[in-house]
Amino acid sequence: MTIATESATSRRDALGERLFASLLGGMELLAVQLGIRLGLYTALRDNGATTAGALAVTAGIDQRYAQEWLEQHAVTGILEVAVECDDPAERAYALPTGHAEALLDPDSPGYAAAMAPGLVGLAKTLDAVAAAYRTGAGVAYERYGAEVRDCIAGLNRPMFANDLAKEWLACLPDLQARLLAGTPARVLDVACGTGWSAISFARAYPQVTVTGIDLDTASIDQARCNAAESGVADRVRFETADAITAVTEGGYHLAMLFEALHDMGDPVGVLRQVRSALAGGAPLLVADERVADTFTAPGDEVERLNYAWSVLHCLPATRATSPVIANGTVLRSPTVRQWAGEAGFSRVEELPIANDFWRFYRLED
Ligand SMILES: C[S@@+](CC[C@H](N)C(=O)[O-])C[C@H]1O[C@@H](n2cnc3c(N)ncnc32)[C@H](O)[C@@H]1O
Repeated sequence: MTIATESATSRRDALGERLFASLLGGMELLAVQLGIRLGLYTALRDNGATTAGALAVTAGIDQRYAQEWLEQHAVTGILEVAVECDDPAERAYALPTGHAEALLDPDSPGYAAAMAPGLVGLAKTLDAVAAAYRTGAGVAYERYGAEVRDCIAGLNRPMFANDLAKEWLACLPDLQARLLAGTPARVLDVACGTGWSAISFARAYPQVTVTGIDLDTASIDQARCNAAESGVADRVRFETADAITAVTEGGYHLAMLFEALHDMGDPVGVLRQVRSALAGGAPLLVADERVADTFTAPGDEVERLNYAWSVLHCLPATRATSPVIANGTVLRSPTVRQWAGEAGFSRVEELPIANDFWRFYRLED
């Protein structure tokens, strides 16, 4: 065997191993989604050590399926065997310490369950995406359905709940001083999704009112429910609207644009609109993907994650909106600066906020 053939064989095998690991991870994520959808983790958390029979009764599912799911979850290590027994019907299972928080607490910084619906939603939409690749058309954001919406909301909510009002706001000292003094403030949340950024801000500062806008009707419906359940519906207003036309009121003390600039069909137009809605000197806080400044292949996990989102979701979704620009998920820092300048912002500062996935920018005049 020549050296070249050996190298081709080892590369072939390495790729095979890598795809096998992906298959395993994907299938285990789908089994997690089954647990979420059927309420199996809630039952395990509430009841402690649980047999297949007990889980079947509590969750209202078939006992044989309950047994197989519990065994699969114990084999993967997501559950542990709490009571060992050769008889599968007598064996009991439990959530190890920490796993209930990762699977069931959507405000926890360690909440991870939201990844599971994302895979389902992306897979369900793959046929439409493949058709769009052939024609060059787009796949509308709403077509990705509740699972992708839930995934995005669930991945971002813990950052809003834990970091937005304290850590991120500390990088906007003028506004923070105003809020700590108890002075009223109006905040605009552009492309607010299901509303958790607006809600978290309003919960942290009782004198703040927030207007959230988003193109997606289902997201806005969900945002209104979330605000009502969080007790802030009197100070947080949500509207279904396109940011390019909807930002008509002015005088906002802060505008926020979280993980959405890359989704805008006309990002410069939206930035221009938002700029005109800000009170004199008020900042626009943008967070978007923490990707490298230039294309490099192969890339790290953040780059890989964002390209995967881009080919499966963000690029098709933006192309469905008659875009001026369809950037895709991989929004690099120099592009943000260029768009901000074209929109008339005179200052773009990258903020020193530690975050594995997002880069933060303060835009102002
Ligand atoms: C990745 S999601 C982020 C949602 C939310 N900001 C968050 O961080 O969870 C992007 C959002 O941008 C919205 N969007 C895209 N283009 C828009 C536009 N022109 N006007 C308003 N919303 C838009 C989508 O509907 C979607 O809800």
